[in-house]
Amino acid sequence: MLPDLRYSVLIKESAAFDLIARQGARVDKGMVAFKDEVSPQELERIRAYVIHRANEDKKLETATP
Ligand code: HEM
Repeated sequence: MLPDLRYSVLIKESAAFDLIARQGARVDKGMVAFKDEVSPQELERIRAYVIHRANEDKKLETATP
């Protein structure tokens, strides 16, 4: 139902991430616009967290047993 953002290419692009998460570019697909709830600064912190989580998982996947 919901995309796992750790695997989304959009976390690499601040502007594209904002377009979808705050400005509602995918409202027609069920992704609501969070512009009234989340500030641009907060969204950048969320994006940084998701990138951090993606990197953590990548480390686990590539770790030798
Ligand atoms: C702060 C929280 C959230 C952020 C930052 C966020 C961000 C995003 C982003 C960047 C995408 C595009 C992913 C891609 O195409 O690779 C996406 C897709 C989507 N999100 Fe969210 N999202 C959030 C919360 C939610 C919530 C609470 C819902 C549901 C109530 C939701 C529903 C969806 C859906 C259904 C899609 C797929 C849209 C499509 O098929 O193109 N999201 N979200």
